[in-house]
Amino acid sequence: MSGGRRVLLLGRAHHDLRAVEALRALAARAQAHAGVPVTACFLDGAEPSLHAALDGCVRHRAAEVVVVPATADGYLAQWAARAPAHWRERAGADGPPVLVAPPVAEQPGMLEALASAVAGAAEAPPVSPAGFRSPAWTVLPRPRTHLLLCRGPRCTAYGSGDVLRALSQVTRDRGISEVEIMITPTGCLTPCNLGPLAVAYPVGRWHTGLSPEQAAAVVEECLPPREQPPAASEVPGLPGPVPGPTGQRDELRPVPRPDRRARDVSCLSTPAGPPGPQTPNRPRRRRAPARAPRAGGGSCSCAGTSTAAC
Ligand code: FES
Repeated sequence: MSGGRRVLLLGRAHHDLRAVEALRALAARAQAHAGVPVTACFLDGAEPSLHAALDGCVRHRAAEVVVVPATADGYLAQWAARAPAHWRERAGADGPPVLVAPPVAEQPGMLEALASAVAGAAEAPPVSPAGFRSPAWTVLPRPRTHLLLCRGPRCTAYGSGDVLRALSQVTRDRGISEVEIMITPTGCLTPCNLGPLAVAYPVGRWHTGLSPEQAAAVVEECLPPREQPPAASEVPGLPGPVPGPTGQRDELRPVPRPDRRARDVSCLSTPAGPPGPQTPNRPRRRRAPARAPRAGGGSCSCAGTSTAAC
């Protein structure tokens, strides 16, 4: 269907695939009912973004576009106006006029929809409360690297959905588990103008202006350093530095800052171990008797490199 008026039904996804499917299904029903093209699009967390949907309207030579927020969400209403203004700036004067309608939830017809929902089949869902407080929600994930990828409105418009798919693909292809790199899509992380962006903890390194092509490099930088070859000075008979296979990558790697809090905890309670569930109350290691006591009298295994708390 080319030309004429096109409708964009705008929602928020927050990574809930059922919400995405529900909005798409509503758009299809609305299209059949109204006889005009209706496309579901998303402010954040899913695709197509509002920007991409507006681009689609241009491709279909729409004479006019009406954006309809699906819910009476103040954030959504604000962005339903703001995002087309940004898109217009980018598209220039050639694009079709973009109008914004009041949200679906504020339409007079919603009263009939509500009445029919109340009059229809309602039932007490047979769901156990156990799912709400499952022990699985008590386990602290301890990935070596936690990569937070922004899926907020601006980063979504800049293509963070494609970046997320590329990152997931790389970790899948390389068999990298969530213990090594956990990727968590988030809402706005604040420096939106530098998006799409991600931040990797515990190092705290920001990756800005990301594209799907950079996914492999980002994953590589999130992995622990590879085994280093011995230094030249430690290899008898070698005059200079020993070239290693990881030189390029290690040059790019930021120097990790010591995690002071984690180190203090390890000194006071448990020896450092691989990521995994917490193991409280493990017996403390005995100190070697030859080591002189440190000022403050504490007993710890940090070899005097930690803070006064030790
Ligand atoms: S939308 Fe990504 S930082 Fe704001």
